[in-house]
Amino acid sequence: MCGIVGYIGNNLSKKILLNGLTNLEYRGYDSAGISILSNGNIHTLKTKGRVKDLIDLSNLDKVDGYCGIAHTRWATHGEPSDINSHPHNNQNNTFSVVHNGIIENYSDLKNFLVSKNYKFISQTDTEVIPNLIDYYYKEGNDFLHSVYKACKHLKGSYAICVISSIFPDKIIVARKSSPLVLGKGINENFIGSDIPALLEYTKSFYFINDNEFAEVLKNNIIFYDENLSKIEKKCKEINIDFSQINKNGYDDYMLKEIYEQPKSIFRTLNNLNFENLNITKEYLKSLKKIYIIACGTAMHAGLVSKTLIENLCKINVEVDLASEFRYRNPIIDSNTLAIFISQSGETADTIAALELAKVSNAQTIAVTNVPESSITRIADKVLYTSAGPEIAVASTKAYTSQISLMSYFSLYLAKLLNSINDDLLKELETDLNNIPNKIKELFDNLDSQIKDIAKKIYLEKDIYYIGRGLDYYVALEGALKLKEISYIHAEAYASGELKHGTIALIENNTTVISIITNPLLVEKSISNIQEVISRGAKTIIITNQSLNKNEFNHIIKIPEINSYLSPILSIIPLQLLAYHIAKLKKLDVDKPRNLAKSVTVE
Ligand code: G6P
Repeated sequence: MCGIVGYIGNNLSKKILLNGLTNLEYRGYDSAGISILSNGNIHTLKTKGRVKDLIDLSNLDKVDGYCGIAHTRWATHGEPSDINSHPHNNQNNTFSVVHNGIIENYSDLKNFLVSKNYKFISQTDTEVIPNLIDYYYKEGNDFLHSVYKACKHLKGSYAICVISSIFPDKIIVARKSSPLVLGKGINENFIGSDIPALLEYTKSFYFINDNEFAEVLKNNIIFYDENLSKIEKKCKEINIDFSQINKNGYDDYMLKEIYEQPKSIFRTLNNLNFENLNITKEYLKSLKKIYIIACGTAMHAGLVSKTLIENLCKINVEVDLASEFRYRNPIIDSNTLAIFISQSGETADTIAALELAKVSNAQTIAVTNVPESSITRIADKVLYTSAGPEIAVASTKAYTSQISLMSYFSLYLAKLLNSINDDLLKELETDLNNIPNKIKELFDNLDSQIKDIAKKIYLEKDIYYIGRGLDYYVALEGALKLKEISYIHAEAYASGELKHGTIALIENNTTVISIITNPLLVEKSISNIQEVISRGAKTIIITNQSLNKNEFNHIIKIPEINSYLSPILSIIPLQLLAYHIAKLKKLDVDKPRNLAKSVTVE
């Protein structure tokens, strides 16, 4: 949710800032802007639209310098417009700020500043920050203390980078509940919302925590704690291959990431070590409940995990949306294990829920795809999916990696508890290890089949997804994929629940997609499909069962596998279907409207 970049050093900053912004665009893309120091002045250029619209601005050519900041926006306060785009400057144009987060008390601060004759031009919350810094500067503070004093009055969340024409040799950064990393170079330093944005330039990173500050100079970075006392930080080397964040010949990141799934799951399964969690049989026996908390697609992975842990380990599992959990006084104590799933490790609601679980004395585990993300520094223990950077806003490979990890984890717990028989354990272990091959098998001929179906349904207004048990959870994720990138209304329903209301919406030619992978529920599921066929529905079936082809419009066959693991396979045709429908509608698959990959505000 908003991406920020900063640069100071021996090189001209514009190209570096624009590259960084391009890498961060998945965090927000309704406007972009840049402020560069040159000839003693701040030059700010900003525009509604994408980073490429900023690059196309005719006067961008005329500006460059050795220190600058840049921003790509996901609007919170104030519509996407040139004026509301970041950076925001104080009225004298001596301080320029990029901000990720929300200043909740901006209205009070604005009133205060207006009473001191400050003038505002945008509708944003951010504009109070450069003016407040200016206010403290005029009270006689230096740059760092002016930013520090301004931050002490900000309520809400922020990661900010500030440059000043009065202090051209430094960038001041501050962070509270929004992500920010610092990259170390030689005679240059970098600032970014995340590591991949800067990987082209450095692999050495510093991480600042909430309420900390840093003065970023060309040859040095000085860190400060919340009282502005100097602190030491160790630089960490990050080993992410920059090529992983290229499209590698695919038209879109999403397609590349769909096809990467055999590899991402293989890596995830092979890089796991549960021993570090120090979980014992006695501890598991003492648990009253496991909570799994997440948002969006990660929450859907949590639902699948619930079935596995409950069925294989006989432990009660409750799954909750982080945004609900944090405000509903959940019953949680030291006999609760709370697992937080987050691809980015930065989702504001998930992090707030994690903090709540910690103060309630629950043991906490974070499952994330991003090393050194905020969640990894808060949770008691961390498990990594090794899916590699996921760039497309709609999550695909992270989801299947999360389920693979949680399936493996469920088997680990079941082994500790001795709660399933050896035959089932062996079958599940073998099938899990075989998943990458099964996905490759599934990919044979899949694309052409899905394209054919997509051509028939891409103009529809509503599509329904149904399933029972784990297939229902896959239906939820399949429908979400379609909504996210094709803007078609999609609704997922538990097959047996359809008749309690939603079936009223089924009419002649309505498309119903059904997932059927549990042999024990085939007949029940078919009966539900017959109910919609009788009302005129066109049916698309994703199944590993042998069904009568003549009864349905399309059957997509997926490889056979133990039904506990089937979600990892059955979602893949649905990911591809959403992709091809969005392509036929000529939509921007990787950057769907109104969404952002990393949601760092509530
Ligand atoms: C956003 C993304 C979704 C993602 C959700 C949770 O809404 O668009 O794809 O599932 O956030 O993100 P997380 O990084 O916590 O898994």
